[in-house]
Amino acid sequence: MLRLEFPESLLTGHAEVDRQHRILFDAADRVLAVREASRDTVIPAIRFLLSYVHYHFRAEEALMDAIGYDRAEHHRRQHTMLREAVEQVKEAVLAGEDMDRIAARLHVLFLDGYVFHIRNVDAPLAAAARAKGKEGEDALPPSRVLVQAGWLSSEHEGVDLPRPPDASNKP
Ligand SMILES: [Fe+2]
Ligand SMILES: [Fe+2]
Repeated sequence: MLRLEFPESLLTGHAEVDRQHRILFDAADRVLAVREASRDTVIPAIRFLLSYVHYHFRAEEALMDAIGYDRAEHHRRQHTMLREAVEQVKEAVLAGEDMDRIAARLHVLFLDGYVFHIRNVDAPLAAAARAKGKEGEDALPPSRVLVQAGWLSSEHEGVDLPRPPDASNKP
């Protein structure tokens, strides 16, 4: 089975941005890993992926605001499209779509859409943030802060925290 591994060529040099991108790819890979176990294990995996997408995009958008980024509008538009695409995958899972098709959707979305976005849209943002000294752990605000600011729905609060081991979520 084709899995999704974070391509090292996608590293932006911004440690926090890169850390979150690895989590995104790991979360998508987990959906592929558990898909043969049962639909019950796939649903929490796709929900986590979608939540993390919501969080990560909002965190980057907060970073863009913080540095007064001039390409923020274009960047936000791509986030909206990519988020909608993951929403559609989740809906397909919930609708009972064949898991091979779900896997194909995720491959196309990550190896095409996300790779393009990270390489061409996130990398310049990461460089601009580094140039302004915004590259520490606080460069991307935690979900708690984004929820308090009204940027992120409370249903996604805590998605950025380390998850406790969950046997039902294992491949
Ligand atoms: Fe982005
Ligand atoms: Fe990103």
